[in-house]
Amino acid sequence: MSNLRVLSFSVSLDGFSAGPNQSLQNPLGEMGPEIFEWAFPTRVFQKMHGGGDGETGVDNQIAEEGFKNMGAWILGRNMFGPVRGPWPDENWKGWWGDEPPYHVPTFVLTHHARKPIAMKGGTTFHFVTDGIQSALKQAKAAAGGMDVRLGGGVATIRQYLTAGLIDDLHLAVRPVVLGRGEHLFQGLDLRALGYEGFKSVAGERANHVFLRKRAGA
Ligand SMILES: NC(=O)c1ccc[n+]([C@@H]2O[C@H](COP(=O)([O-])OP(=O)(O)OC[C@H]3O[C@@H](n4cnc5c(N)ncnc54)[C@H](OP(=O)(O)O)[C@@H]3O)[C@@H](O)[C@H]2O)c1
Repeated sequence: MSNLRVLSFSVSLDGFSAGPNQSLQNPLGEMGPEIFEWAFPTRVFQKMHGGGDGETGVDNQIAEEGFKNMGAWILGRNMFGPVRGPWPDENWKGWWGDEPPYHVPTFVLTHHARKPIAMKGGTTFHFVTDGIQSALKQAKAAAGGMDVRLGGGVATIRQYLTAGLIDDLHLAVRPVVLGRGEHLFQGLDLRALGYEGFKSVAGERANHVFLRKRAGA
């Protein structure tokens, strides 16, 4: 069975998953890096960004698990880049350079159509303009029975949660407060939407909290 999964999604203690004022200089928004400080030192992150060896503790192990059995990804347009409104040209190809870390078909939700972009290493970005259900259908078809990872950002995850389409979530909760930014759960009644927490694991720099859709919900 192919599941829709949110994994290694960083969140501050007060519930923000991106800081305010995202830009080319601040892809995660102002203060945003504070919520990712658990991920930066890990082996998986360092390997992905051409760094050194990186750490191999609990945080790394959980982050590595999140890349297993993924046949496709779904991203929101703001996670793909800082360009807003109609695409001015074809130049922007994501934050990740020539070889993005996805290595599978990756579906980007946007209101602005664009031709697919084939990148080095197997990632092809497909731009989906007809909504979350369509992106999920296309991603599941492309995944060939493997899981689909919903990479974010916040607005995208909130839509899939509201529709009850996410099977499980792993949140990396950092002991920092942001005060402002993109709030992950504000106004969402997760319990009524059928979600339950079922596990937490202490990592070196984050507490890892696991939620899933209740059986039958
Ligand atoms: N905490 C974490 O682990 C984590 C992980 C990933 C990303 N992030 C951060 O999250 C931030 C981005 O999140 P965000 O909430 O600002 O935005 P987002 O979810 O990445 O993207 C939202 C945009 O995607 C397009 N979109 C979304 N749903 C759509 C739909 N149903 N139909 C058509 N287009 C749709 C719209 O763009 P247009 O209308 O402009 O086309 C919308 O403005 C970034 O700072 C990123 O670094 C954090």
